Amino acid sequence: MNAVITAIGGFVPSSILTNKKISETVDTSEEWIEKRTGIKERRIADCNTATSDLASAAIENLFENYNVDRLEVEALLVATATPDHILAPTASIVCEKSGLANAFGFDMNAACSGFLYALEMGANMIESGRYSKIIVVGADKMSSIVDYEDRNTCILFGDGAGAVLLEKTESDNGLMKTILKTDGSGTSSLLVPSGGSRNPTSMQSLLHRTNYLKQEGAFVFKKAVASMSQVSQDALAKNELHAAQIDWVIPHQANLRIINAVSESLNIDSEKVKVNIDRYGNTTSATVPLCLWDFKEDFKLGQNLLITTFGAGFSWGATCLKWGVMREKKAVETIKTDTVNENVLVAH
Ligand code: COA
Repeated sequence: MNAVITAIGGFVPSSILTNKKISETVDTSEEWIEKRTGIKERRIADCNTATSDLASAAIENLFENYNVDRLEVEALLVATATPDHILAPTASIVCEKSGLANAFGFDMNAACSGFLYALEMGANMIESGRYSKIIVVGADKMSSIVDYEDRNTCILFGDGAGAVLLEKTESDNGLMKTILKTDGSGTSSLLVPSGGSRNPTSMQSLLHRTNYLKQEGAFVFKKAVASMSQVSQDALAKNELHAAQIDWVIPHQANLRIINAVSESLNIDSEKVKVNIDRYGNTTSATVPLCLWDFKEDFKLGQNLLITTFGAGFSWGATCLKWGVMREKKAVETIKTDTVNENVLVAH
């Protein structure tokens, strides 16, 4: 028995933060950001929106567009690095907001690899035979932990969420073998130093802005390229596939130069590599499901997809999947966007 994706939903906030706007607040330029990262703009949630709102909007988009009974969903896995609260779980809030009355839910934090980790856990739950319908969400409100005075990080991140429904199939479509990796020695290179049990929020942390994301960009960049390239090759080998048999690559969207370097190392044509970083930036747990959502019409029955991620921890991984039969679609696809406000200002 295999686990297969049968429905997809996504959500990004309507407010756009452009490179131009960022260049008015920190010492950078529109050209530098686009050339060094591939990002043109990113979406930013308003101060009344939390990660659970992004996640439940993505789930609502899924239910609006596919014929699925929400009461049949048995479990909800929420991958996020920006939970609504340290305690209670974001998944509990999402279960309630999304009317998943018969599902249990829990959060998973593996930073930018969170969705891939959760997908693997969800697939294993389905393949065990104990569960038939699971929703896996990747959702992050990165604007809640980004320092908009730090040009090393504020150019990179955005907010968003994507959701997939996993179901069982007797066919050979669906998730194949996955490789997940973790190396805690990378912790200090990419982290939010304060606000957890190591350094609880204090006057000092607020003064030194250590409650915001910090990263050693160039070091993380090199690690991401090497790790995603190697783990992708390993996942291909584990699934007895050659790069030439891959129809689409869905890479974590952290930097277009990372994506290009990984696809070059795999010798996969850039036309097969899905990219939406130009519009959304790095949405952490949401990049992969947002890519699946954005480009779902391109994926045809039986095509092979390669997903690969890298994130804080370090955490990384890759999987292959054979695209299966999607659930019946409802008449009109709804894309949730309110009025677009290009002049969003992020204030903390
Ligand atoms: N605007 C203008 N100049 C900037 C800048 C910005 N926003 N950010 C850094 N610079 C400067 C640096 O100060 C440095 O100047 P110097 O040469 O005078 O010292 C120069 O640009 C090069 O810095 P470097 O950090 O080597 O740049 P880079 O090419 O590596 O790009 C990142 C920086 C952050 C875009 C890039 O390292 C990156 O994407 N890293 C990985 C990010 C990532 O994947 N994070 C999440 C993992 S999930």
